[in-house]
Amino acid sequence: MTAVFGVDIGGSGIKGAPVDPARGVLTQERFKVLTPQPSDPRAVVAAVCEVVRTFDHRGPVGLTFPGVVVDGHTRTAANVDKGWVGLDAAGLFSEALGMPATVLNDADAAGLAELAHGAGRGESGVVLVLTFGTGIGSALFVDGVLVPNTELGHLELRGKDAERRASSAAKERHGLDWERWAVRVDEYLDLVEKLFSPQLVVIGGGVSRKHERFLPLLRAREARVVPAELRNDAGIVGAAMAAARAGG
Ligand code: BGC
Repeated sequence: MTAVFGVDIGGSGIKGAPVDPARGVLTQERFKVLTPQPSDPRAVVAAVCEVVRTFDHRGPVGLTFPGVVVDGHTRTAANVDKGWVGLDAAGLFSEALGMPATVLNDADAAGLAELAHGAGRGESGVVLVLTFGTGIGSALFVDGVLVPNTELGHLELRGKDAERRASSAAKERHGLDWERWAVRVDEYLDLVEKLFSPQLVVIGGGVSRKHERFLPLLRAREARVVPAELRNDAGIVGAAMAAARAGG
């Protein structure tokens, strides 16, 4: 099969690697650069080109974006430069790279990877993948089919955007220890459980590396709550899977 490349564009880093989408693994060690600040489109495109050109790749490239993406167009930008709103991001990346580009929401990408190759493998029914990082990302699956751009990090919790209270950036910002943060995550999970009644909730994002510090602190609930398995590679793998699918 054609080699596919995955790029994960995050609030702090942009990382990429060639991927075997069928096995859900990186085929070479990933390369990372810091996300330019401000993260305006021109600077991010240049950083993405730097990452991709580190490898000898020609072929489809999948990219994640931390906002709503519809048909390759970025529509929101909660934690990146507002210059992204309303852009044809897929067009921009494919022109700069000279390769076909597919762009999708970062949590949706992580979700695709977890459902195919990680903690959600073989799960039917309603599954939610939630990523805790700078924001809270969400990917909703019904019998393995993604409902894209659910944006559940922006549900209202105690009169605020939920991610302002319960993301891992909020943990740092408010100096919360694991116990106090877990109370906020529980409140958030109560809300999503009330609205969607998922059978399984997969907790991803950078903080999932430390899942043994906080998952045991969470209350028992109807949904099983498990850590993501692909951790930091989920975005790269999911982006590449989306690019492979787009290429037919
Ligand atoms: C954005 C989402 C994104 C999440 C995680 C939120 O602020 O609105 O699109 O998935 O952060 O990066």
